[in-house]
Amino acid sequence: MPKPKSALITGASSGIGESFARVLAANGTHLFLLARRLDRLEALKHELESRHQIQITVIPCDLRTAHARTEAWDRITKAPQYSAAPVDCLINNAGLGASGWFVRSDWQRMADTIDVNISALTHFAHLALPSMMAANRGWICNVSSTAGFQPGPKMAVYYASKAFVTSLSEALSYEVRHSPVKISALCPGPVKTEFASAASMQASRLFSLFKPMTSMQVAQIGYAGMLKGQAVVIDSKLLAAAAFLNRFLPRPMILQTTAYLNGASGKGKRT
Ligand SMILES: NC(=O)c1ccc[n+]([C@@H]2O[C@H](COP(=O)([O-])OP(=O)(O)OC[C@H]3O[C@@H](n4cnc5c(N)ncnc54)[C@H](OP(=O)(O)O)[C@@H]3O)[C@@H](O)[C@H]2O)c1
Repeated sequence: MPKPKSALITGASSGIGESFARVLAANGTHLFLLARRLDRLEALKHELESRHQIQITVIPCDLRTAHARTEAWDRITKAPQYSAAPVDCLINNAGLGASGWFVRSDWQRMADTIDVNISALTHFAHLALPSMMAANRGWICNVSSTAGFQPGPKMAVYYASKAFVTSLSEALSYEVRHSPVKISALCPGPVKTEFASAASMQASRLFSLFKPMTSMQVAQIGYAGMLKGQAVVIDSKLLAAAAFLNRFLPRPMILQTTAYLNGASGKGKRT
């Protein structure tokens, strides 16, 4: 099975993105690592370059603005590393969320969620796909979430952003179906990373009722699914079954259950 030669990973400074860097590096893939925390990217570059025969370029970038994204892509395509091995794999992973009732939520945090989870992900797919199509090889893994399979009261914008990611990925994988380019949505359940504390999910029942996976397990499952060209990759059989059942359950029941999992009181009050 062909494997990527050069990958761009967004959100590579921690969690699932960092684990994807480890998985790809172990498979001999050269890397462009992008995030805001440059110190973390530099440390990962030094560690992985000393362990594997690969080149890594770090790209500090705040993905919230189109200008910063265009500049980052410019730096990537002008890097000597790109001329030697153009990006044939995009791990569109950077993301954030926020727990809380919409009406009381901070607008800036919601705007950041939309800018990173939706705009940046779509923008990078649009920047990277043309050269993959021209080269007749490529892989895009859009990191979505099982949150994308239903609306999510008490975390509404995040769930909606992930519904967008899964829908976009499935549509794009259909559009490129006659080419060797593969596009996947990776839909993890709860994962042990910095995400939950950054999203103020202390009240969430998701991480206590479901055993969180490690970011390495998720990256390995995502990598294997992406290589196989699976349009939607779900990281556990239980959650895959739940996603399937969702299609047949009454919507009010889904909304109530999801609100409860997101930390709402059992009686549906806005606590
Ligand atoms: N953890 C879970 O339970 C879970 C479950 C399902 C799906 N996911 C998805 O998995 C993906 C990775 O999350 P994670 O769990 O690994 O969380 P994480 O450890 O918090 O990692 C998030 C990554 O996104 C980057 N990022 C956030 N805002 C950014 C910005 N404005 N510009 C550039 N980079 C930015 C962060 O880098 P900097 O802060 O250095 O910029 C970091 O590398 C996300 O899309 C998330 O929605 C997570």
